[in-house]
Amino acid sequence: MQLVRGFSKLSREEKLAWLSSEGRLSESTLKVLEDHLHRDGDTQQIYGELSENTVSNFYLPLGLAPNFLINGKMRVLPMVIEESSVVAAASSAAKFWAGHGGFHARIKGNSKVGQVHLTWSGEPGELHRIVEAHRQDLLLSVEPFMRRMEQRGGGIQSMEIRESGTDLPGHFNLFVRFNTADAMGANFINTILEKLASRLTRVMEDHGKIGSFEVLMSILSNYTPESLVHCYVESGVNVFEAMVPGLSARQFAGKFSRAVDTAIHDPYRAVTHNKGIFNGMDAVIMATGNDFRAVEACGHAYASRKGSYQSLSRVELSEGSFRFTLEVPLAVGTVGGLTGIHPVAAAALEILGNPSSEELMEVIAAAGLANNFSALRSLIGPGIQQGHMRLHLDNILRQLGASPKESEAAKQYFEDRTVSHTAVAIFLDDLRNKNKQV
Ligand code: MEV
Repeated sequence: MQLVRGFSKLSREEKLAWLSSEGRLSESTLKVLEDHLHRDGDTQQIYGELSENTVSNFYLPLGLAPNFLINGKMRVLPMVIEESSVVAAASSAAKFWAGHGGFHARIKGNSKVGQVHLTWSGEPGELHRIVEAHRQDLLLSVEPFMRRMEQRGGGIQSMEIRESGTDLPGHFNLFVRFNTADAMGANFINTILEKLASRLTRVMEDHGKIGSFEVLMSILSNYTPESLVHCYVESGVNVFEAMVPGLSARQFAGKFSRAVDTAIHDPYRAVTHNKGIFNGMDAVIMATGNDFRAVEACGHAYASRKGSYQSLSRVELSEGSFRFTLEVPLAVGTVGGLTGIHPVAAAALEILGNPSSEELMEVIAAAGLANNFSALRSLIGPGIQQGHMRLHLDNILRQLGASPKESEAAKQYFEDRTVSHTAVAIFLDDLRNKNKQV
């Protein structure tokens, strides 16, 4: 394959024709791509313009997880996810906890962070003094870009010079805390930082210090430990009676607590445990048009804040009472960005009752805690494969083109057997052969 130049300037059809001329696009694949375009041209234009070099759409299912009682309010959670068991797991935990007080969530902070990274070869105190002396000047320089955000209740909360680490002499940053109201605020923060950076450069020029000072880059930080939500469920241990066949309520709670402790002390387990939390959180983040990569990166950094990678959830078990908690940093928005562009993200927010960004943080944390609860319940009970495979069976049957009658027969057959792609294929072959003979 040759290096291709000017690819982004080609029309969609030209891009596909090029791919075909390179032998990378069969007629049938072209049809798949065409079939996945939105039938309404205006809507397709919205999807096509979300990214560069788009040639089709890649669908993911939008599912609904009902019965989420969060701070006394019942919500239906929209979830976008390809993993078949996630919505079922969220719904099942939500239904259980709705009967036991639901999810309780509280925002512990909603500050976002941005940094102007810079090098300074002078005396550190002098850098601090210059920035302090010009604080008002710096803030005034961004005033025109702050108005809309200030009208919505946002703005700059603090600004200070920090050293970027003891191992990086001469590296500092202008560390700025923002309130971005109901927006995730990435564009707003980056705009303000770039303006602050150019103003600061001018200040340094005026002080004759430009030889000792250079701006390296201006960018928000996706690490937002001060945009934090605390979510929990609690009950008496007795509610776990008959939760898992063969385990008493007390045994269930004890094993559950040990499973969480394992994820606090063993990073191999912690990553999988937290992945299960992100199953629920990412699905709501995706559905509402938020940036799941930012939330994931931040969550994993937060999980490591004590020097080792640990579970994001905790269990407190004492004198017959059980409390299961998730505390996680989340930077999400309900206005601006994709939330206002993607038609299905807008629909998802409406399904949620058009929450504020803080309410959305509470909802996302509840989804994470729900999925974590369901995963652990299965893991310490019948194991994860039973439920997974039942849902997986549907996918395999669909892939193998099973009719409704064949699917019914397969579901009965696999009720007490291990599901695998090969086993289902053999079952269907046998069934079809038998039917031919009749
Ligand atoms: C699978 O997507 C998620 C789990 O592995 C999470 C866990 O192990 O806790 C089931």
